[in-house]
Formats: sequence, C-alpha cells, structure tokens
Amino acid sequence: MAKVRPFKKKLAGFDYIVLPKVFKGSTDSEILCDVLDVKKGETSWDIGTGTGLAALQAKKRGARYVLATDLNPFAVKNAKENSVMTGLKVDVKQADVFGDIDKKFDVITFNPPFTNHQARNNYEISFWDKDNKAVKKFFAGLNKHLNKNGRAFICWSSFGKIRVIKNIAKCYGFSLTELKRKKGKSNLVYYVFKVNNP
Ligand SMILES: C[S@@+](CC[C@H](N)C(=O)[O-])C[C@H]1O[C@@H](n2cnc3c(N)ncnc32)[C@H](O)[C@@H]1O
Repeated sequence: MAKVRPFKKKLAGFDYIVLPKVFKGSTDSEILCDVLDVKKGETSWDIGTGTGLAALQAKKRGARYVLATDLNPFAVKNAKENSVMTGLKVDVKQADVFGDIDKKFDVITFNPPFTNHQARNNYEISFWDKDNKAVKKFFAGLNKHLNKNGRAFICWSSFGKIRVIKNIAKCYGFSLTELKRKKGKSNLVYYVFKVNNP
C-alpha cells in the first residue's frame, strides 16, 4: 500500500526519502545495487528508477554521467530529491522506458513491473503492466541505446514467473544470465539477470 506521507528508509547502503505514490525499494532494488557493474568513468542509465537507488549506486561506483528516468512523475521528483540529499549527481527525467531519449550508454538497468495486470494509477505501474509492455519496449530499444561492449541488467521475481521474462527476452533475440537471487517476503524470490546480446 502506498504511504500518504514521505518517509525515510535505509537500503543498499543508502539513507533516502520515499515520497507518496513511489515504489519504496525492496529486495529487488537491493540485489540490483549489489551486482551493478559500472566502471569508473562509464555512463549509466537507470530506467524505472523509482526513488533512484540504482542510479545513485552507479554514481557511487564512479560513473561519470548517470541518467535516471521513470514514467511516474512522483518518482521523477523523488529521485531528484534523493540525488540532492545524497550529493550523488544524477540527471533525472520523465520517460516511458527509452522515451525519445536518443543517447547510448555503457550500462542500462531496469527493475520493471513484474505482473501482467492493468495498472490504474502512477503507483500501480510499479508492480503491474498489462501484457508486460514496458519490458517488451525495453528489449526492443536496448541495442539502439547501448554502446559497443555496453551491458544491461534486468530484475524479475518468482511471482512474475521466470519463464515469462526469458521468453520475452528470447523474442527480441536476447538471453539472460542469472547474476543473483534473494528470497524476500512471503518466500518470493527476486533475481537480477545480465542481458546477453545476440
Ligand atoms: C519495481 S519498481 C522499481 C523502482 C526502482 N528501480 C527500485 O528498484 O527500487 C518499477 C518502476 O518502474 C517504473 N515504470 C513502470 N512502467 C514504466 C515505463 N513504461 N517506463 C518507465 N518507468 C516505468 C515504475 O514507476 C517504478 O518506479
């Protein structure tokens, strides 16, 4: 349930603010930050950034430029606030997956909504996405936005069914390698995959 007031949270080594109507960060966000392979001087783009955790982590790991985007305008505001609060400079914009942003990056991350179900508002798009449109747009646009030798990382969960994300990736010519998994609440398992280019 979305909270009605901003609150503070600690996760993945960050003290940060969560605004109302924004995904607060959970086991999936944490393991994405753990495995995030960004080298000093690289560029990194966190799609569906929420509170901005993976973008902040990329900056902390030494990225020279980090972009963070989200479709939810409250998440955009939230990630901007967390960038200022932590002193980790991240450029934050609103976009539907890649939107009309015509740039290439060394690293791209996406912790998407996992469940094929119609979302009714800005908060529900954190979890629900009818026909998994966001991940389909992600795989469709990925190669146009990755530098040569660029890397992409995507999260998923047992409640979204692993075969679903693997099949979607395959339809767009990609395969996935599991980098990390962790049990969260109610025995749900969260995963981070590296996306392998064809
Ligand atoms: C599971 S939450 C993850 C948030 C954050 N990355 C984290 O790990 O804590 C999914 C995020 O994707 C965003 N989102 C959903 N559909 C999107 C779309 N089509 N384009 C961009 N962002 C989207 C949601 O607003 C939400 O912030």
